[in-house]
Amino acid sequence: MPDWGKQGVLTQAQAETMAKFLQQEPPAPPEMSLEQMKETWKVTIAPEMRPTEPQHSRDWEDFFAVTLRDSGEVAIIDGDTYEVVNTVKTGYAVHISRMSATGRYVYVIGRDGRASIIDLWLEKPEVVAEVKTCYDARSIEGSKYKGPEGDFSDKYAIVGCYWPPHFVILDGQTLEPFKIVSTRSYTYDTEEYHPEPRVAAIVASHYKPEWIVNVKETGQVWLVDYTDPIAPSIKMLEAERFLHDGGWDASRRYFLVAANQANKVAVVDAKEGKMAALVETDKIPHPGRGANWIDPEFGPVWSTAHLGDASLVAIGTDPEGHPDSAWKVVRNVPVLGGGSLFVKSHPNSPWIWVDHGLNPDEKVQRSVCVIAKADPTKTEKCWEVADYGRAVHFEYNREGTEVWVSVWGRADQPGKTGEIVVYDDKTLAEVARIPNLVTPTGKFNVYNTVHDVY
Ligand code: HEM
Repeated sequence: MPDWGKQGVLTQAQAETMAKFLQQEPPAPPEMSLEQMKETWKVTIAPEMRPTEPQHSRDWEDFFAVTLRDSGEVAIIDGDTYEVVNTVKTGYAVHISRMSATGRYVYVIGRDGRASIIDLWLEKPEVVAEVKTCYDARSIEGSKYKGPEGDFSDKYAIVGCYWPPHFVILDGQTLEPFKIVSTRSYTYDTEEYHPEPRVAAIVASHYKPEWIVNVKETGQVWLVDYTDPIAPSIKMLEAERFLHDGGWDASRRYFLVAANQANKVAVVDAKEGKMAALVETDKIPHPGRGANWIDPEFGPVWSTAHLGDASLVAIGTDPEGHPDSAWKVVRNVPVLGGGSLFVKSHPNSPWIWVDHGLNPDEKVQRSVCVIAKADPTKTEKCWEVADYGRAVHFEYNREGTEVWVSVWGRADQPGKTGEIVVYDDKTLAEVARIPNLVTPTGKFNVYNTVHDVY
């Protein structure tokens, strides 16, 4: 919730009325039918009216979609020139963007449940369709499988909702919703009914025409086969509670997801369609999508930092080549403090980056650290990215030579609303600042997001 008092949106008296209102017994929030979703569905440029090739000469595969959280917008920024190519209206407090399989489209989800699709081939990238499929949402993904079972590139999209508790399958080019699947069900362990299991992270498998849908409160991972999306078959795996965010290992066979109430990371084998492991971590792992690297001693690892502990852990991910370290915490590196939201790396980088965006200390909030892949026993260097705001989330350019860090400021403080700081990844020298952005948070490079490079 925004700090309405401090931002001057509510007076003291209004804040008190609001506080009293919030203490009332809440009415059950409304459900949402397909018909209601369709009433919100708008296609501004139909697929047949869209260009058949890019209408600009920019390197669109190196564009970044950047969430401008408090202005309800996404900025499309050119990774070569750092120019803001366009700023488009989306849902409020956009949570994430994901690219379609070809990278041409960006799928964006607002916390208010409004999904938008941006066409990067237009002369000025613009929203070409939108729809509201929930009142509260966090995840969106496209269909990425291309192989013997068919080519599903850019064919479908999926939105995961917090309320109502369901996911929705949509046309991947127009966002027309056509299938709703409820996640109301039973907890994986005690088999107790849960009335509102929220949908957390969703990723598209590269192995099969499948989405991996993480159902938070029941602790189940659902493998949703989208070959026939009107009659999807769903395999329900028992994982752990409460599933939140996660990403692929470097081979993209294993999906690792934080179970934040259990202080564990659940590992799903997308090839075999089964759970591979549950790994104990420190308090409240929060990886974003995590960071992969080759550890000098333990081989391929995936890593996460924590909201509740000042540490980054690395988990071995190569059961065939390095069976002794597979699905074990092989490194535990102290960082500046807890409150870490994201980590990131790139195959071409010597570093793992970590932020501390939700740490209570202002200096720590705006500090990032790097850990050297060559010596992952300590942080090599930590520094403040700006003299205001919180430093959050990292993204590499396509080549993996530059890292973008968001300075998440305040929408009501002119000059301090936020910016992106770009670093040379080898030398860690600052190379650019992209100024005057309103509360930037997540950044998604087209190439890296299509190929799940992190
Ligand atoms: C109540 C608090 C929050 C909830 C329930 C929440 C929920 C989630 C979930 C479920 C995902 C995974 C989506 C997916 O991968 O499909 C996610 C990712 C993300 N969240 Fe949050 N989040 C919260 C707070 C925040 C805050 C404070 C920020 C501000 C920086 C933030 C920024 C992001 C970003 C940037 C990602 C994508 C990371 C990546 O994939 O690289 N979230 N969040």
